[in-house]
Amino acid sequence: MHTSLRIGLIQGSIRDGRFNDTITNWAAKRLRQQGFDVRIIDPRDPALLPLQVGDPAAEARLCEALDGMDGFVVVTPEYNHAAPGPLKSLIDAAKAEWEARPVGLISYGGISGGLRAAETLRPVFAELHAMTLRDTVSFAMPFNKFDENGELKDPADAKRADAAMVTFGNSLAWWAQALQTARNERPYGRRAA
Ligand SMILES: Cc1cc2nc3c(=O)[nH]c(=O)nc-3n(C[C@H](O)[C@H](O)[C@H](O)COP(=O)(O)O)c2cc1C
Repeated sequence: MHTSLRIGLIQGSIRDGRFNDTITNWAAKRLRQQGFDVRIIDPRDPALLPLQVGDPAAEARLCEALDGMDGFVVVTPEYNHAAPGPLKSLIDAAKAEWEARPVGLISYGGISGGLRAAETLRPVFAELHAMTLRDTVSFAMPFNKFDENGELKDPADAKRADAAMVTFGNSLAWWAQALQTARNERPYGRRAA
């Protein structure tokens, strides 16, 4: 159990009828079962939606929501082999909040499972001094694979996804704990004494 580690779970789509909620809720449930304190950050939330036009008040609300997290998980679909623009706008709207934090990537899409979108986020987070996890969780063509309770219908699919999520959660916990300790010992980077 990874009790007391606070994780911001960031939704990667603001599209009407988005599939993102299904994957986000599935992941939130697993992360909470693993003991993380999970806060969902939704760029479609009316308080955050004005981020898309650079609204300073929405940016301040985002930074407040991200502040104090020990790590992040991004749930991204794939749009034209990349992550959606609104997700990139959300990432761009904060800076110090990402620093020296692990970021786990969960993706979905067509046969690629959204992996190409996930990979586009690695250089973005590197620029922000955040550390993306090597292990990902991805869903290829998941659109009819979940039941009304948000669980994968096929037991083999469910077993594979749960196993991937355990590996992912263990890695997230290790990095979140290690970087929390490091930040407490010495402020990160440019703000270090
Ligand atoms: C503009 C757009 C571009 C897309 N491009 C891709 C793509 O390159 N590869 C892929 O696997 N799926 C692609 N898709 C399919 C999406 O992965 C799928 O529609 C998914 O449900 C989108 O996530 P959302 O419903 O949460 O917004 C695209 C969808 C949209 C809307």
